[in-house]
Amino acid sequence: MFEGKKVGLRLMQTEDVWLLFRWFNDQRVLEDLGSDHGYFCVSMDQEKTAVERMLQDRKALYFIISKLDGGSSIGIICLANIDERNASAELRIIIGEVNEWGMGLGEEAIKLLLHHAFNAKNLHRVWLRVAEYNARAIACYRNSGFREEGRMRHDHYHNAAWKDALLMSILDSEYREG
Ligand SMILES: CC(C)(COP(=O)(O)OP(=O)(O)OC[C@H]1O[C@@H](n2cnc3c(N)ncnc32)[C@H](O)[C@@H]1OP(=O)(O)O)[C@@H](O)C(=O)NCCC(=O)NCCS
Repeated sequence: MFEGKKVGLRLMQTEDVWLLFRWFNDQRVLEDLGSDHGYFCVSMDQEKTAVERMLQDRKALYFIISKLDGGSSIGIICLANIDERNASAELRIIIGEVNEWGMGLGEEAIKLLLHHAFNAKNLHRVWLRVAEYNARAIACYRNSGFREEGRMRHDHYHNAAWKDALLMSILDSEYREG
């Protein structure tokens, strides 16, 4: 378990399927994720299969975000597409409990994961993809040290229009400059 001031990260396990089932069936949580997400209205069977696949993926590390005060689980964060040759990985985060949004918990969870990525896993670059209209996520990523590095034009279809996705990243040197 990695601990910050308000949240901690613990490795995801099979039993967490109940949490993911709830979060990935909440339209408010899914609304701004962009196309890459095939999870709209998942059944428990689909979610169990997804969790097994996630846990067996040797190029990914999934953590559950828990509040230190009370211990409730509020979201999931991961390093995916871990590329050992090039020392890079993709960061993904979802706070599934919507009443916990906007209180700095996402930023703290990201900083805990970046600490692990750069100080334990010796990564050089962590990148992410975010829908251009996901203003809360973009603000959170900027506050966590990510910089915009590109734009995927017409990346996905959202609310009857083509939307871009932004690519953002942080290098280990930028992380250490703080
Ligand atoms: C995106 C997410 C991880 C951010 O976590 P969070 O705990 O809500 O974010 P934080 O509180 O750490 O930071 C949010 C920042 O956005 C700002 N913000 C909130 N709503 C905003 C809005 N509508 N427009 C612009 N900025 C906004 C906040 O003021 C805060 O910035 P500040 O600290 O400078 O004031 C979380 O909201 C979430 O999981 N959302 C649903 C799923 C999702 O979008 N995941 C990301 C996919 S790429």
